[in-house]
This record gives sequence, structure tokens and C-alpha cells, in this order.
Amino acid sequence: KTATIYLDTRRTISDISPYIFGGFAEHMGRCVYEGIYDPKSPLSDENGIRRDVMEALKELNFRSIRYPGGNFVSGYNWEDGIGPRENRPVKRDLAWRSIETNQFGTDEFMKVCSELGTEPMMAVNLGTGSIQDAANIVEYCNLEAGTKYSDLRIQNGSEQPYGVKFWCLGNEMDGPWQVGQLSAEDYSKKAVQAAKAMKLIDPSIQLIACGSSSSEMNSYPDWDRVVLEETWDQIDYLSMHYYAYNRDDDTGSYLGYTRLFEQHLNTIAATIQYVKAKKRSKKDVFISWDEWNVWYREMNGNGDWQQAPHILEEVYNLEDALVVAQWMNVFLKHADVLKMASLAQVVNVIAPIMTRTDGMFKQTIYYPFLAFSKHASGQALSLNVLSDTYETRKHGAVDVLDASASFDPEKHEGTVFLVNRNQNSETTTEIVFQSEAPRSVKVAYQLSGTDPKAQNSFEDPENLVMHTIAAPEVKDGKLVLSLPALSFTAVVL
Ligand code: AHR
Repeated sequence: KTATIYLDTRRTISDISPYIFGGFAEHMGRCVYEGIYDPKSPLSDENGIRRDVMEALKELNFRSIRYPGGNFVSGYNWEDGIGPRENRPVKRDLAWRSIETNQFGTDEFMKVCSELGTEPMMAVNLGTGSIQDAANIVEYCNLEAGTKYSDLRIQNGSEQPYGVKFWCLGNEMDGPWQVGQLSAEDYSKKAVQAAKAMKLIDPSIQLIACGSSSSEMNSYPDWDRVVLEETWDQIDYLSMHYYAYNRDDDTGSYLGYTRLFEQHLNTIAATIQYVKAKKRSKKDVFISWDEWNVWYREMNGNGDWQQAPHILEEVYNLEDALVVAQWMNVFLKHADVLKMASLAQVVNVIAPIMTRTDGMFKQTIYYPFLAFSKHASGQALSLNVLSDTYETRKHGAVDVLDASASFDPEKHEGTVFLVNRNQNSETTTEIVFQSEAPRSVKVAYQLSGTDPKAQNSFEDPENLVMHTIAAPEVKDGKLVLSLPALSFTAVVL
């Protein structure tokens, strides 16, 4: 099979927002407890924070982390998670039928973010929570001394406000599983009033309204239209959530998932445009894809009233990593409308890192995320890709090659991200530079294997890792690569 890519650094889509490289840490399963915070582990510091996990999170360089949920937030009283630990109540988390000890809360999360150099993206409880609770946490986080909640933060040890920029107005409020589920109309009314109060406390914050929790909801995409129409003046982003799956064990179709990602994204982008036109509005609302990942094997979210239950602990394989890589290609191809995204989640729960008390391993999906997070900056480029195809059961003919590219004029560096979906043979790929050709390849990395189901594990943590490959030569304004079957390659130029 063959493919040709025409690349021109003048053919740009948009700036790449750094916040598309975000993560999500929910109080559920072992994401926070035993993931980030694990006082019993020999690998934790004096504050109970796992040093090995922090190192991996630093490497992934999440630009924002969404917290504390997720479904969890819809029953969460944020005041339970602050102040002296011995006074914090133990509660039942109804979302995941788990026991929440509140030993980790807002202040601990802010410390983690500050060490990671990441922006906290806080979600407020619009399920059981009130408008007043939402305003109070903004005061707690963002105001200087002088009033009850800002003084409380200082009393709890943080003199300086945290300056939290991003705030989610609830989570998946369209879902029947959500504690406090609302209709689109009722959610919008509550979100507008919460937004008003939150912005009266701190007018500089940016707000994300709940879009549909998936494209499979009956109310999709009407929910999104109604929420946009009602909350338009208050919000900056509309959220999208989406989880990919290969339930039929049909690798060919699974690797063609890009179609569905793009359909969903295009529908939401068009709905935003429709509402903007209807309102004759000058402002823009962007998309925050604040939950995305592969999730279909570990669906049981019942924690049996345990603390830190082992739920949603998906172990990822090569084909999942290739889907994640293509997903991030979609992010670059739609960089004009997509300005935030959060990989769900960051540790243990559908995550790139898996821990046990005495160690951790990096999952296959760790590597494509790392490559994009490290190298996709500046501007997203619109590539012209001519590729051979293969037949799939679900999507008909699909290109064997999936590609995206970035170019950073400041660093004078560009990166081409390539997925060879072909399961059986290599794809000879020619990159033709239509603008000035780079002198050489700086470095090229690859993740590949023969078995789409190959995984990493505690026993074999490096079964599948991304490694550097011999840099191909740029000759006569072209670069030719032999991409192995089932591979992801990042070529840094
Ligand atoms: O990420 C796991 C869960 O998936 C989140 O809590 C929820 O928002 C979504 O349904």
C-alpha cells in the first residue's frame, strides 16, 4: 500500500491551543486514592503524593487537569474536602457506590497542579449542589483575603489565591445516571444562574457548559442546541464527551473510528455556528472535549461501598493506542474549533498510567499522548493526503494512512503524525514538501507491533514502547518512509 502527503506550512488551520493536552482526575476508583495520593506506598512523599506518578504526569505535560469529576462531582460537597484532615467527613459517593474519605480535596489538588505546572479545571456540582456553593468555591479559590471563603483558604494554609481560570458548569447533566439529572431547559437555567454568581465573584473566569454526554444519547444533538441557545452569553466552551470501543472485536473498523470522531465534532461545531448565527453574535464558543478515551472492557462502575475500589481499570493494547493517536490527529485537524480536551483519566481509571503500591507501568496509550503533547505546537496544518484504502465492515473504504501535522514558526520545528492502519503490510509514505523543505529529520519515534492486542503489564512493562527510529533522509524536497503495519510514527522536522 502507498500514500502521499502534500505538506505546505502556509496551509494552516489554526493555532494549536495547548489546552487540548489536558487530563482528567476524578474521585473515583483508584485515580485519586492509590493513584495520585497513596500515603501507604513507599513511593509516596511526606504528603502522601506518589513521586513516580508525578514524574510520569510531568512527562505527559498535561496543560490542564479537570477535577473532581465526572459523575462524582454531582453529589460532592467541596467543603468536605478542605481543612484539617481529621475533621473531614467520610461519605458515600452515590455515583460510584464508593466510600469517600475526603483525605484529598481542593487544596491538595491545587498543590499537585502547581507542582505539575498545569492549570486546574474545576467542575462545580450542579446536581445536588446550589448556585451559592458554586459561587463559594470560586471565592475560596480565587479571591484575596477579606471574606469568609477566601479567609478560610488562608486559614487552610494557602495565602495566595489559586487563580483557577477554567470552571465546568456541572457534568453530564443529560445522563439518567447523573445524580440530579436535568432536562436541557432546566440545566440551562441553573447553569446561567450559577455562571452569573460565579462571574460576580471573579469576572475573569472561563466557563464550560455541559454538552451531550455522548452522541448516542436520544437528546443529542438537541440538548447541545438548547444549552447553547440558553447559556450562550455566559459560556466560553461547550463540553463533548466520547468513549470509543471495539466491542465486536473488529480491528479494521475500530481503526477507522476517526469517521465517528469527526462526525461528532462536526455536528457540535455546526450547532455552535447555527446558534451563533441565530443570535447574530460576535463572540465565539469553542469545544472542550473534556472526556475522551477508549473505554469498553471495564464497564462495572459499582464500587461496592469500598474505598478506592478497582473499577474501570482498562488495560490498553496496541490497537487502542492507534485509536488514541488518530483521535489526536482529529484534534489537530479541528484545531480551529477545539480549544480544550481532557484525556479521561490520568491514573488507573481508564488511564495511561497503572499503579500498585510498589510500582507503576505506562500503558500503550501513554506513548501517542506523549508524542503529541511534546511536539504538536504552533499551528495545525491542513495536509493533502492521498492514500490507498482498505475495506471495513462499519465504515466502507477507509484510508490506510491517517495523518496530521503541526508547524511551530517560533521553534522552527514541524511534526508529522502518522498512523498506518494497515494490519498486514507496510505503507510506503511519501511526504512532499510544497513549501520550503526541512534540511533533515531531527528525530522520529515509532510505536508498532504485529499483535493488535499486545499490552504492557507490571510483569512486562516495556512490551510496547515508543522508540526512536533511524531518521529518513530529506531528498529533492521529499521524504519517504516505510511505515510498518499497525504503527504510529511521529517525525519531527
Ligand atoms: O470518566 C468516567 C465517567 O464517564 C465520568 O465520571 C462521567 O462523566 C462519564 O460518564
